[in-house]
Amino acid sequence: MSDTFILNGKETPFEKGQVILEAARNGGIEIPTLCYLRGASPTGACRICLVEVTGARSLMAACSTPVAAGMEVFTETGRVHQARKLNVELLLSSGKHDCMVCEASGNCRLQDLAYFYKITDLRFEKNEEIYPAETENPFIVRDFSRCILCGRCVQACNEVVVNRAISLGYRGAKSKVCTGGDQPYMDSICVFCGQCVEVCPVGALTEKKAVSLGRPWETQKIRTTCPYCGVGCQQLLHVKDGRIVKVTAVENAQPNEGRLCVKGRFAYDFIYSEDRLKTPLIRQENGDFREASWDEALDLVADKFKGIIEQYGPDALAGVSCARSINEDSYQMQKLFRSVIGTNNIDHCART
Ligand code: FES
Repeated sequence: MSDTFILNGKETPFEKGQVILEAARNGGIEIPTLCYLRGASPTGACRICLVEVTGARSLMAACSTPVAAGMEVFTETGRVHQARKLNVELLLSSGKHDCMVCEASGNCRLQDLAYFYKITDLRFEKNEEIYPAETENPFIVRDFSRCILCGRCVQACNEVVVNRAISLGYRGAKSKVCTGGDQPYMDSICVFCGQCVEVCPVGALTEKKAVSLGRPWETQKIRTTCPYCGVGCQQLLHVKDGRIVKVTAVENAQPNEGRLCVKGRFAYDFIYSEDRLKTPLIRQENGDFREASWDEALDLVADKFKGIIEQYGPDALAGVSCARSINEDSYQMQKLFRSVIGTNNIDHCART
């Protein structure tokens, strides 16, 4: 049986070990967050999730405060509202948050919070920009001036995908998210899975290939299964005018639970490649290829197969089916090799 606590005056059940944020969500009360990342340990960095707990001297971070039986919690008092608003103002003054030209506009939690708390002017002086943006690698733009140091990217890298490529470095106003030795991503151990981009709540980390290709509200989000290896990761294609603008993971969906690898997230250019083969090619005597019809190409392959089987037997042949094929095609491929050709030399290139 679960214990109960008092949430905004209402007796609410909670599970042992839950923090206020999770118990409140289960009770239908949404508490705003910025740094909280499901599945990673809480850092309590942003202080947006502050709530009032009766008897506590200061406001408590809901994402990292465990619930106790009988605890009385208020999530929307004037004091809570004022503190959250102040924290949003401080974050807005911590860097360059010019939504009009920011890639994350329309998909930015800081923007949403500024809108919700009706922040029109900044009371605090803006921090100067210290670090130039990193744009050298092919996949990720790191704009340090937009970073609010919430640490979600660090948690995602270290605790969700466990690549351990980044951490928080330096001190005070010079703090930044760094790779080992503060190298550019390209020279670090980063594998470009892009999980840091996936969880960034602002425009500090964005997909380089998606720059200026479309705002979130202009794209259609189409759920699909990643076409690469056999894991079956669930992804969302962000499509504008019939073209993929970017790819993100589906949150809370098996088997990848919001994660993607570098291929699943960034390697979709082949779809639009001019080099894509559209007809069979047959190599000629001089080594050059010439275009052929499917009938001609298949007859040629069948003749060559027959010749090899006659001379060396069926085990002289082997088949490797494509990892991007559907199950039914792979099934037919093994059927062809086992039943028609007569060999068990058949495999599937499901490498990542
Ligand atoms: Fe709780 Fe950031 S979400 S401190």
